[in-house]
Amino acid sequence: MTGRAAVVAGLGGWLPPVRVTNDDLAVQLDTTDEWITTRTGIRQRFVVPPGLSTSGIAVEAGARALASAGRSSVGLLVLATSTPDHPCPATAPEVASRLGLGEIPAFDVAAVCTGFVYALAGASSMISAGIADSALVIGADTFSTILNPEDRTTRAIFGDGAGAVALRAGTADEPGALLGFDLGSDGSQADMITVPGGGSEHRSRGVVEADDLYFTMQGRSVFRNAVTRMSESSRRLAHRIGWPVDTVDRLVAHQANVRILSAVGAELGLPDDRLVVNLDRVGNTVAASIPLALVDGVHAGEITPGDRVLLCGFGGGLTWGAAALEFPRLSVEPLPGLPAKSLSTHAN
Ligand code: UT7
Repeated sequence: MTGRAAVVAGLGGWLPPVRVTNDDLAVQLDTTDEWITTRTGIRQRFVVPPGLSTSGIAVEAGARALASAGRSSVGLLVLATSTPDHPCPATAPEVASRLGLGEIPAFDVAAVCTGFVYALAGASSMISAGIADSALVIGADTFSTILNPEDRTTRAIFGDGAGAVALRAGTADEPGALLGFDLGSDGSQADMITVPGGGSEHRSRGVVEADDLYFTMQGRSVFRNAVTRMSESSRRLAHRIGWPVDTVDRLVAHQANVRILSAVGAELGLPDDRLVVNLDRVGNTVAASIPLALVDGVHAGEITPGDRVLLCGFGGGLTWGAAALEFPRLSVEPLPGLPAKSLSTHAN
């Protein structure tokens, strides 16, 4: 017997047009291409030009995922973002409207770098429950708009981007069916990744310092937690759905740092050639990171139909999560502005 399930039917991604290389950063900050490449694996990132915000890049990715699925409508839109256009209202309804999707339910999910996995779980559950028959799940962030221009640690890592999948109702035995999720959070460590100001807690005290509106991160602690949480979440999910971990063909983990990816692979006993890595090309794109890695992985021929694919994320909150699917056959446009990915860009 196979139950109703959400099935991935389309995939798309989009990058803003301004490319920033490590050498570009070294002109502005006390850093070098050598430090950034060695410590993170990142070589370049893309940022939005003035006037382009999260809704704009989300629309581009959403349109590509809809085209990939051969659809012009869906019954639900979920936008994962921690850089919404405004604190209020959510950005998802505007994205739905600009995509011409009509008066569908649309809401934001704020789980920072785990946002895409959380949003996918929410949309998948609503399809399984019969609340919607199809959905567009978009991860989009413009962290360049909230970074301290003088902070070499965060500016070296983060880039802007948007990625999306289209889901439809189907059955759990179909290729592309979302087979399960593992999700978690630990709010006692909220300070590890935060924008301290701009919210009600800060405003209620009546003092808003400009510097408090910048993103901050305790890099080393985040690194350690990312490795542990992504490994544990992936292992729990694989066990729950009956996949021996060594049968996972591709691990698509949140693209934060190539050393984190390698460490997660090592924890799970997966060799580097089973890890999809595209952070060298796009940096850490927060909620967009997993779908952008999927797009690049498909184009590089690293992810092929029938592959057992495990997605896992970790981010502010703290939050973490994993999702699993057998990859379907999809027609996907390459990311704009990027040459084809070389098969030699694995973590090593
Ligand atoms: O997406 C959400 C999750 N985020 C992450 O997963 C990020 C996780 N953290 C990391 O990827 C790493 O911790 C970083 C890349 C942020 C930092 O790398 P690290 O190897 O942990 O370096 P560190 O923070 O221990 O700093 C070592 C040194 C410091 O100098 P001192 O104090 O030893 O003199 C930093 O100031 O490296 C310095 N540093 C830099 N130097 C040149 C930090 N950033 C830079 C830089 N260029 N861009």
